[in-house]
Amino acid sequence: MTFSGSQLTALDAPLLGVNIDHVATLRNARGGRFPDPVAAALLAVEGGADIITFHLREDRRHIRDEDVVRLKEAIAVPLNFEAAVTDEMLDIIERTAPEHVCLVPERRQEVTTEGGLDVAGQFNRIQDACARLAAAGSRVSLFIGADPVQIEAAAKAGAPCVELHTGPLAHAWWDADQAGLQRELTRIQEGLRFARSLGLRTHAGHGLALTQSEPGQIGHVSSTALVAALPDVAELHIGHALIGHAVFVGLRQAIADFKAEAIRARKSSPA
Ligand code: PXP
Repeated sequence: MTFSGSQLTALDAPLLGVNIDHVATLRNARGGRFPDPVAAALLAVEGGADIITFHLREDRRHIRDEDVVRLKEAIAVPLNFEAAVTDEMLDIIERTAPEHVCLVPERRQEVTTEGGLDVAGQFNRIQDACARLAAAGSRVSLFIGADPVQIEAAAKAGAPCVELHTGPLAHAWWDADQAGLQRELTRIQEGLRFARSLGLRTHAGHGLALTQSEPGQIGHVSSTALVAALPDVAELHIGHALIGHAVFVGLRQAIADFKAEAIRARKSSPA
């Protein structure tokens, strides 16, 4: 049996936050307006995305300020605004008033968010940010490693949610490192359980994928399935591999559309 995305939202599964940053990356590669991440977000909602996630980075390498304004106007499902804990970002979040915020660490040189937030090490700053964003009406989540020290600090800082970093699990999965995969899965499982025991809502994300090589590949469990199966995961946030998957499932149709356009043009040309 196959399901459409919107049917899946009705089932007992974690909510899916679709991260659209990589559509903006593709747009920015040519500096124009296409493909538009806001149009992609609308399509994602049509397809069953429960939440639209985006990261406004300090260097604006993918999502830009005007995208945030347009997302706020256009998107009916909750927006999950990922940002570093800086005064500039906190100001923009307050102005935008997204339903959800996920505070992440950010280093300019990194390709993607590499580690989790050091909540214990920057406790006062993060506690203040949590209070400020809660006062602005946003539900705050802290993106952290599955480390009891960080989980406890997140609860003390007043965040209602944590998102556990699944990057190390995703790496082990890509490397087919069974021992590493089992170790990371157990770490995430225990982290989720501990966070729930402190009253936190628990999310997970980063690096999760559907297939190791080709669409339709069978005979293995995806990293998305491994994490989604954990009963304490209330939300998954997925971007890169989901947009990558869309390339594979959409490429056939895209070629048909461009060929049809060329054939139509030839047919209607006078000579
Ligand atoms: N969750 C957080 C907090 C992130 O920073 C990211 C990357 O922007 C993701 C989830 C999604 O990660 P990926 O693009 O690898 O699926």
